[in-house]
Amino acid sequence: MRVYNFSAGPAMLPTAVLEQAQAELADWGGSGMSVMEVSHRGRAFGAVAANAERDLRDLLLVPEDYKVLFLAGGATLQFSAIPLNLAPAGARADYVATGTWSCRALADARRYLEVNVAADDGPGHYTGIPPEALWHKSRDAAYLHYCVNETIGGVEFPFIPSVEVPLVADVSSTILSRPLDVSRFGLLYAGAQKNIGPSGLTIVIVREDLLGRARADLPPVLDYAVQAREGSMLNTPPTFGWYLAGLVFRWLKAEGGVAAMGERNRLKAETLYGYIDGSGYYANPVVPSCRSWMNVPFRLPRSELEATFAAEAKESGLTNLEGHRSVGGMRASLYNAMPLEGVRALVSFMRDFAARHP
Ligand SMILES: Cc1ncc(COP(=O)(O)O)c(C=O)c1O
Repeated sequence: MRVYNFSAGPAMLPTAVLEQAQAELADWGGSGMSVMEVSHRGRAFGAVAANAERDLRDLLLVPEDYKVLFLAGGATLQFSAIPLNLAPAGARADYVATGTWSCRALADARRYLEVNVAADDGPGHYTGIPPEALWHKSRDAAYLHYCVNETIGGVEFPFIPSVEVPLVADVSSTILSRPLDVSRFGLLYAGAQKNIGPSGLTIVIVREDLLGRARADLPPVLDYAVQAREGSMLNTPPTFGWYLAGLVFRWLKAEGGVAAMGERNRLKAETLYGYIDGSGYYANPVVPSCRSWMNVPFRLPRSELEATFAAEAKESGLTNLEGHRSVGGMRASLYNAMPLEGVRALVSFMRDFAARHP
C-alpha cells in the first residue's frame, strides 16, 4: 500500500511513474536489459537523455541560449562549482541568507571568493525575507546567489530579485512546482530528489555567456563549459536518475505542465496553512507573504506531543512528518507528487489529533 509521504527529500514520486519504471525494469524497450545496464553512449540511452532535456525545456520554457546539464554530486556540489565556474580567484559575489541552505551555499563559496552577505534574515530567525530595497548589493559582484525556497525553514521568495549582475538560484525544492521565468537568471540548479526523481542527479540550467569563465585548475568534471560540450557525458552520468527524471517530466506534461502544478500546489498550500492558522492549536512561524508552497513547518502546542503526533500519523498512513533534525517541530512537504487528497487527509488527522490532545 502506498502512503502519503510528506518527506522533504528524497520525496514522494508519482505512483504512475514508479509503476512504469517497475514494468519495464528488467526488459527495457524490448532490449532484454534494464535501462541501468545499457551504455550511456548508445543510441537508446541517447534518446532517453535527449527527450528528458527537451521535455524539461518545454516545461520551463528554457530559452535557446541556455544549456541544461544533468550532473552528479547533488546540489551541495554546486555550492562550490558555482563560485569556481563563475568567478576568478579574489573576486566577490553577493549572497542572500534566508536559512540553512543559502547559509551552507555561502559558507562553501567563502572558500573560493569574497562573499558579501547582501541581506541576512538571521535577526528574524530566518522566518522571512529582508525587503530588497534594504539589501547591500556590491556593484562589482560576479553574481548574486539566493535560495528560492528554504526547504527546512519553509521560506519561499514571492519575487525574483532585480540585479544587474547574473542571478544564481538554488531551486532544489521549488523547481517545476509553479511557473518560473528562467530568462531572469544566469544559472539555476536543483538536486533531483524532491520534484524531479532520485537523489544523485542534479540539474543545472546555465546561460551560455557564463560558460568559459572557470578557473584553470578546476577539475574538468566540475567545469560547466566542458560538461555542456560533452552533453553532460564527460564521464558516466547518473543514467537511472536521468531516465526516471524523464518519466517524471512526461508525467508533468500529461498533468498539464507547470501552470497546472502551480494551481494545484497553491490549493494544497492554502488548505494546510488555512487550517493551521485557524486551528488555535498548530502554528507556522513564517511571515505569510514568504510561506513556502512546498515545505510547511509547524509546531504543536507542546513539544512533548511531537513523537506521539508522528507515530499516530504514521499509523494513519501519513509518514515523515518530523521536522528537520536541526530545528525539530513538524514539517509537511507538499511536492508535485503529493495529491490534494493527501493534504486533506493530513488536515483531517491534525484536527482529530488536536481534539484528542487538548
Ligand atoms: C534547497 C536545498 N539546497 C540544497 C540541498 C542539498 O542537496 P543535496 O543533498 O542534493 O546536496 C537541499 C537538500 O535538501 C535543499 O533542500
